Amino acid sequence: MVDMNISDAELKVGLKGFLDVDINPSLDLFQEIERLKKEKNAVVLAHYYQEPDIQDVADFIGDSLGLAQQAAKTNADMIVFAGVHFMAETAKILNPNKKVVLPDLKAGCSLADSAPAGAFKAFKDQHPNHIVISYINCTADIKAMSDIICTSSNAEKIIESVPKEQPIIFAPDKNLGAYLNKKTGRNMLLWNGACMVHEIFSQQKILKLKMQHPNAKIIAHPECEEAVLYYADFIGSTTQLLKYAATNASNEFIVATETGILHQMQKDAPLKTFIPAPPDNMCACNYCPHMKLNTLEKLYLCMEYEQPEILMDEATRAAALKPIQRMLDISRAAGLGG
Ligand code: 13P
Ligand code: SF4
Repeated sequence: MVDMNISDAELKVGLKGFLDVDINPSLDLFQEIERLKKEKNAVVLAHYYQEPDIQDVADFIGDSLGLAQQAAKTNADMIVFAGVHFMAETAKILNPNKKVVLPDLKAGCSLADSAPAGAFKAFKDQHPNHIVISYINCTADIKAMSDIICTSSNAEKIIESVPKEQPIIFAPDKNLGAYLNKKTGRNMLLWNGACMVHEIFSQQKILKLKMQHPNAKIIAHPECEEAVLYYADFIGSTTQLLKYAATNASNEFIVATETGILHQMQKDAPLKTFIPAPPDNMCACNYCPHMKLNTLEKLYLCMEYEQPEILMDEATRAAALKPIQRMLDISRAAGLGG
């Protein structure tokens, strides 16, 4: 432990986005994190794309819908969000009176970044008869301009809840939007955003891999491009991919999503083989550099010093809450989520 008070900690977060403080190397961080959870009545929520150690100390691991649902019902005083900024922001929108901390404030999202608020407002203003359904991977400002939020777990149900004749803008993911247009028979107007991780998969390399593993099932996240989704045996959110991999009779899977998920897949089905889908270049870019900014050390420090904290102005929070609440209500009625 380091001798530092909270206001020093706030100063230290500064431009780096995390607490850059030396940790006594003899500390057992797993034990320390458990101690802090009890002392501070804190809950650790982690996404499946987090590094294995973080997944293993989390109280709940989930997809974006599961994490939002957990955030909505927690009794903890402090929510420690091991994920990216828009996820922690969603937890804060749902819990204005709780402290929400993120191990590294710079853990952003290329998809959320692809919809800047000013440009999106101008786009929305050009289509005044459209309602806006936004994927949860967007900033609080975009949520505040939206009518309903969705995740990859509930998007079809959310779209089906809107009358067929109602024109819809779908933002920010054009790949998920195109996939949903096909699935629902709608013609939603798509914002031109994408995830840097899911856009990188190579259709040709996946097919080559399939020739080497003819019995493997190809499973993909709907943020992938159409050319990859076309060959997928199963398409779903991270939780849905995990369930499919654990319950499907096949023993081999080619997995087209961020590689962090392989940790839970392997834990759930230790005898099965999971092969990460190859990216369209020489590097291992199918890991999310934003998600991987969080480390066990930063998680410990943010719990100890309660920094960096997610803060936002009340008007944006209140406006962003409405479409999230609609999503949670529709999901509950449809029996979706954990
Ligand atoms: P889900 O976990 O909701 O499927 O989302 C995947 C993702 O890209 C999160 O950033
Ligand atoms: Fe954003 Fe893609 Fe990383 Fe998910 S995987 S946080 S959508 S950049």
